[in-house]
Amino acid sequence: MNENETGTHPIPVPDMKHAHVPGMAAYDQLVAEAEADHSGYWSRLAREFLTWKTPFTKGLDDSRAPFFEWFEDGTLNVSYNCLDRQVERGLGDKTAIIFEADDGQVTRVSYRDLLARTCRMANALKARGVKKGDRVVIYLSMSIEGVVAMQACARIGATHSVVFGGFSAQSLRDRIQDVGAVMVITADEQLRGGRQLPLKAIVDDAIALGGCEAVTDVIVYRRTGGKIAWDPSRDRWLHEEMQNQAESCEPEWVGAEHPLFVLYTSGSTGKPKGVQHSSGGYLLHAALTMKWTFDLKDDDVFWCTADIGWVTGHTYIAYGPLALGATEVVFEGVPTYPDAGRFWKMIQDHKVSVFYTAPTAIRSLIKAAEADEAVHPKRYDLSSLRILGSVGEPINPAAWKWFHQNIGGGRCPIVDTFWQTETGGHMITPLPGATPLVPGSCTLPFPGIAAAIVDETGTDVPNGQGGILVVKKPWPSMIRTIWGDPERFKASYYPPELKGYYLAGDGAIRDAQTGYFTITGRIDDVLNVSGHRMGTMEIESALVSCTDLVAEAAVVGRPDETTGEAICAFVVLKGPRPSGEEAKKIANELRNWVAREIGPIAKPKDICFGDNLPKTRSGKIMRRLLRSVAKGETITQDTSTLENPAILEQLAQRN
Ligand code: WTA
Repeated sequence: MNENETGTHPIPVPDMKHAHVPGMAAYDQLVAEAEADHSGYWSRLAREFLTWKTPFTKGLDDSRAPFFEWFEDGTLNVSYNCLDRQVERGLGDKTAIIFEADDGQVTRVSYRDLLARTCRMANALKARGVKKGDRVVIYLSMSIEGVVAMQACARIGATHSVVFGGFSAQSLRDRIQDVGAVMVITADEQLRGGRQLPLKAIVDDAIALGGCEAVTDVIVYRRTGGKIAWDPSRDRWLHEEMQNQAESCEPEWVGAEHPLFVLYTSGSTGKPKGVQHSSGGYLLHAALTMKWTFDLKDDDVFWCTADIGWVTGHTYIAYGPLALGATEVVFEGVPTYPDAGRFWKMIQDHKVSVFYTAPTAIRSLIKAAEADEAVHPKRYDLSSLRILGSVGEPINPAAWKWFHQNIGGGRCPIVDTFWQTETGGHMITPLPGATPLVPGSCTLPFPGIAAAIVDETGTDVPNGQGGILVVKKPWPSMIRTIWGDPERFKASYYPPELKGYYLAGDGAIRDAQTGYFTITGRIDDVLNVSGHRMGTMEIESALVSCTDLVAEAAVVGRPDETTGEAICAFVVLKGPRPSGEEAKKIANELRNWVAREIGPIAKPKDICFGDNLPKTRSGKIMRRLLRSVAKGETITQDTSTLENPAILEQLAQRN
């Protein structure tokens, strides 16, 4: 069998009698329970997993479909469920967070401390006038303060919107403006890989761009002590704000549907979508998947390597682990600093037992380990590991096998978790004590998730035949709407031809024998580069906004060994088509332009210049052909409808 082929012989489940879901019979029973009474199944779990201030009386309310509601008349507080509840259960002294800084310094925070810090920050926000329903933008790097800021918002019923620290001033401004934030919480600088990178300065630039008039306060966490500009009418130090605040703060009891957060993600148009999540349903799935997918036990040390700027960092750092009273590692730095053995050393040092990371990280660490024995995982003691997880993009079977063998020692199940910003938590994933594994397949739906594969008319396709991934029934942690744009929500996720099913935006296929799912990639204009979601239109509009240079641009993805997909831009300049050194120079200018407009993660890897783009006679850009050019394929498709077939050859020359 080819190294990279999906296997057809499932790897048997290790002996896990004590797993929370021990075996396929237990899995089948949960699936059957959900099938018999969907709303009743989720309601039972919502009562078991969450502490409610006012118990709910109804589960699913579909009377306003597709704006579904869950547990609507119940009230609760997310931060109470994550913190106070653990202290009340006697876990006050248990370590909640093991924070490892970029330079290796370790700080431990107990549940009691985390609660006190959250309350002090919550009181500080209240003192500045933030109240229930207000929006707070959090633009912070990985830190205890980041988690505390999210929990503090939840505590007072403010809706947070975390913006990844790699986004540019322009992107930050767009998000602050769209969500109507009254406050921004940031740090002076962030430390990554030994380098100090600006945060506060970017907030200043974002606000200077205009449109953020609702922001009355910028709260600054002092991380590096680096020099920053200061506007006394607006800027305040976090430590000063928190100094005299009480260590207790009565939680704001909110309805289950109260928006806990809005997180922006890319769609197939130029403007990112503010994905709005609920409090009750969201937290239920965060807690439930933590327990079942990671088979989390009281003495586990959990480490999710994502950033809180992405949904994975929301569900599996800020909320899920805390809702279960787990001990988790939070890491400020990057996997390659001071060397590419950092992850393995941290697993060894902190005795991590459940490790959740992204295929891109694995692929780049494979390369590093192959190039340098000194950072090979075999140099480290990884015996504490019990379960491994993968998220964000398809994991190719070769990387899966390396991860399984070299990190998991052949004994740790890998949960390949398929989900999205919109789904709030895992949708299709193995459960480690139940599901036989197949490298490259995310296997079977989480119990209660009605995932299916259909054609363009919403009709089921048989196993073995690819199609469109949908979810047939609403589930508690699903997106509630797109912030400020309910019509776009309906159009994006509930297109009329799909019979009321949720459209995930991915293609998938089920194995003819096992029924296992394999995700085949996005079916819309969304790219996945190193697990970061980006819209091709977003990058195109950034390129054409460089009006001095660019006349027209088209962006497509192409497969890349390390990053999964790479961004390839085809550009027509206003001036003549450049070549040689000149082309290199302009390509770099354009990359920097995109970095300034969106963020460094959106920089195109390839930029190809042409006198024109391949268009049909009616003027439509033929992206299908551009995708082939980007891959370096010889064009075998019919090009007779092209206005200008000769252009393809010209575009094939990379820069
Ligand atoms: C992709 C990240 C294959 C998919 C949690 C999805 C995956 C998009 C997997 C969502 C996986 C995520 N296997 N593909 N295990 N996990 N994806 O919103 O294309 O940043 O639609 O959420 O990532 O990306 P998002």
